[in-house]
Amino acid sequence: MKKSVAYEAARKRIDALLEGETDWVAAMATVVCELHNAFDHYDWTGFYRAGDDELIIGPYQGTHGCLRIRWGQGVCGTAAAEKATQLVPDVDAFPGHIACSSSTRSEIVVPVLDALGRVLAVLDVDSNAPDAFDEVDQHHLENLCDHLGHRFGARVATAGITPATP
Ligand code: SME
Repeated sequence: MKKSVAYEAARKRIDALLEGETDWVAAMATVVCELHNAFDHYDWTGFYRAGDDELIIGPYQGTHGCLRIRWGQGVCGTAAAEKATQLVPDVDAFPGHIACSSSTRSEIVVPVLDALGRVLAVLDVDSNAPDAFDEVDQHHLENLCDHLGHRFGARVATAGITPATP
């Protein structure tokens, strides 16, 4: 199946599963499960949530992920600090990359911003294949994360978790 078609199908399933859902953790867990099982090039799929000065592990699928990542550190911390997607074809060439798993060769990290532009979380997808992600992955994941940020942003703030604003 063409990758963009698979993304559209996954998005349809996610939207249907999340219909009426208001809980952010339930949403993250569902998104991660659907994405991880839809694509062969996904070997680790998860969210890191924004804390005061660090990112804290959220729902994920794959082997153990690092529990906490300092703001600005590694690919995830850079995506959060710069509020911009990091598309990394070769993790060894990324300064400060955090090797939670030695098998990871490439990754994409997309920030989840609320309506005020605050970072709620980042979505991190790692692959054991080099250069596994391209602008098709980026387009669909950014679209999804934008939707999630706007939909769940207010919920996260009122739940007492203050998104970091560096
Ligand atoms: N790839 C990340 C670290 C997190 S894990 O690999 C699960 C990074 O460098 O930010």
